[in-house]
Amino acid sequence: MADGSARTSYPRPTVRPSPFSPASFQAPSRTLVVDETLRDGLQSASAENPPIADKRALLHAMAAIGVDVVSIGLPAASPAAVDDAAALLREIVDRKLPLIPTAAARTMPSDVSAIAEVSQRGGAPVEVYAFIGSSPIRHYTEGWSDSFLVDHIVATGEAARREGLPFCLVTEDTTRAPPTTLGKMWSAALDVGATRLCLCDTVGHADPRGVFALVAYARDFLVARGASHVELDWHGHDDRGLALGNALAAAITGVQRVHGTALGIGERSGNVALEPLLYNLAEIGRRSPVALPALRHFSDTAARALGRKVGAFAPLVGDRSRELDRARATPAVLGGEVRAAPAVAVAVDDGVEERLPLTLRLNGERVHADVPASRTLLELLRYDLDHIGTRQGCDKGDCGACTVLVDGEPVLSCLTLAAQCDGREVDTVEGLRGPPELDPLLDAFDRCGAGQCGFCTPGMLMTAQALLAQQPRPTRDTIRMAISGNLCRCTGYGPIVSAIDLAAKIRAGEEPRGVGLPGAHVPPPLPPAKDRAR
Ligand code: FES
Ligand code: FES
Repeated sequence: MADGSARTSYPRPTVRPSPFSPASFQAPSRTLVVDETLRDGLQSASAENPPIADKRALLHAMAAIGVDVVSIGLPAASPAAVDDAAALLREIVDRKLPLIPTAAARTMPSDVSAIAEVSQRGGAPVEVYAFIGSSPIRHYTEGWSDSFLVDHIVATGEAARREGLPFCLVTEDTTRAPPTTLGKMWSAALDVGATRLCLCDTVGHADPRGVFALVAYARDFLVARGASHVELDWHGHDDRGLALGNALAAAITGVQRVHGTALGIGERSGNVALEPLLYNLAEIGRRSPVALPALRHFSDTAARALGRKVGAFAPLVGDRSRELDRARATPAVLGGEVRAAPAVAVAVDDGVEERLPLTLRLNGERVHADVPASRTLLELLRYDLDHIGTRQGCDKGDCGACTVLVDGEPVLSCLTLAAQCDGREVDTVEGLRGPPELDPLLDAFDRCGAGQCGFCTPGMLMTAQALLAQQPRPTRDTIRMAISGNLCRCTGYGPIVSAIDLAAKIRAGEEPRGVGLPGAHVPPPLPPAKDRAR
């Protein structure tokens, strides 16, 4: 390491067989998550200390995403910090939020007193997370001896015991500490009744192999001390970009709690970001899945409170992720709100599906139809009204080939009931044709070679049509986002993006129309279905 401290390897204590050997180790079935946003997150140089109302709002957002444990601050930092921590505890108690409150303390009895005051004012016990450096570089710099460390741990643990507060020893920089030093510090904590030990990768030093070794070493240590009831926490930073992987490794190896902050806000490169942590703990079966809207609300609330932005590319919660989800999951592929369709009563009587009369405007023309309640708009268009330009691809909302416009909004017609379109305007690719002039979209697709087999093309065209109606001069990025719900198997998306860009320019009068270019003539319409051989 740059500061000269050596990498540490952790010898196994002599107690065998280890309950954490691969054959017998059973990790806890559920990993709890600790939100450190209002403590470690606020140590980021670019984070603002929010007003108490914002902190309260953040508590509720944490509860909504299933955070289990929250740090309500470092009360000994100032009288204002005591007031804030007490107010947050009061909120947890009064609003019955399912959050276990903890607070940070230096390893000093006076810091425990500040937490005790918070506990009394807030009306609930607060777990004391008392931290002290454990790395040789820190000890050298501060001039700390082993006995200094042990004395402070014992005095602080005893203070917590007197106050009746659970005590956790947080060994800062655990990943760079020698096992002998850790052994002395942990033993002192156990002697004064610590209920948990927090292992820290304070400078983002570790990789997952080291995490496995350290956690296994700590578990073996506890078993050897007859203290297997004592639980472990993992607290990591992201200096090497490994914070999330390390936290998952710790969970797999058997820590009961892992720490993180909203958006990973914290010192230097930050902490483990809670959003992907929660998501991925669910993916590996350690927690229930969390709903993305709640996760995004949490990120937004935290960003607002701490004066930060949610990065456009932040996993799960950034704008890119939100837009892609919207495009995939909803009929409106442009990211606008999906208009509420009128509810369609299920019309089944004695097992016979009733037919429903409907009237709509199709490409500007009034159309009447009588359809079974289960008829999709796609079926109505293709099989009843002979508008076969609209493609039937996956028939389950994946491909976008069936995109048409309903009241100007792009919808997947395979997922839209025909009866929902009663009284509405429906536009299909057939409506794009001339005469007298070729539509700029058809012109541009032709000039750019934006279609090959053409299967995706009608859906692409209708998506583009809606985009250009809403944004006459979109950027290429906006175009990419708009068509992200439309799949193309052949051409690739580059020419399609170029074509939509060109169509926008043609419509704006910045580019000439492609008169005379190959394919610029309008093919005659197909004869009606009844006249075609089947
Ligand atoms: S056919 Fe509708 S999305 Fe594929
Ligand atoms: S051109 Fe063939 S699927 Fe797009």
